[in-house]
Amino acid sequence: IPEIEMPSHSEEVLAAYPELGCSGQAYKDSDFCVGNEAVFEFLEKVLTEVMEVFPSKYIHIGGDECPKGQWKECPKCQAQIKKHGLKDEFELQSWFLQQITQYLKTKNRQAIAWSEILEGGIKDEVTVMSWLGEADGVDAARMGYDAVMVPCAYLYFDYYQAEADNEPLAIGGFTPLKKVYHYEPVPKEIAGTSAEKHIIGVQANMWREYIPTFDYTIYMDYPRTAAMSETKKKKKE
Ligand code: ACM
Repeated sequence: IPEIEMPSHSEEVLAAYPELGCSGQAYKDSDFCVGNEAVFEFLEKVLTEVMEVFPSKYIHIGGDECPKGQWKECPKCQAQIKKHGLKDEFELQSWFLQQITQYLKTKNRQAIAWSEILEGGIKDEVTVMSWLGEADGVDAARMGYDAVMVPCAYLYFDYYQAEADNEPLAIGGFTPLKKVYHYEPVPKEIAGTSAEKHIIGVQANMWREYIPTFDYTIYMDYPRTAAMSETKKKKKE
């Protein structure tokens, strides 16, 4: 499943296409200007190309860590808020992701987005990847949306797996093998309820800002990936 990140974490796109950011200048923006029609045209073109390459039911559209500061200052983004009767930039983010979700739906694909898609509420069928913790997965499942559990404290394999003093530099955290192995994907709050069926699986994340080589990636991935892959099996036993 490919992830095409939006509306933020898009610095490299906006360096090449500065007119798609609020400032219009390269190296200034991290977020797309969501008041600009050209942004939607651009993203639809990118997604169309991506869908030609990837036959997956799901397309991940990101949605995480959007600072939204530029949107507050941007007349086009503010006009979009007014036009659609939105309350604030959080709702603007949701509205934007909803447009993309609907576009994917017209192509018979389903959007997945990170925890933050819940910030301004969701209306369309979307699958939530709960990374900030488990609460977003619980909220999504209770609302009837599917969720994939990726809580960073358990399933971020760019976190240290042993005492930091004896390890190569990593981003932080402490997620030893045992913690991964014992991760229970269905949070207690919804275990045994009708929401449980919406927890459709787990994922581990390997972000590579601190992990520049293939050897180091393998070192961080294993054996934790093996532990994670037993998650479902453990539950059944
Ligand atoms: C994330 O780690 N920002 C999804």
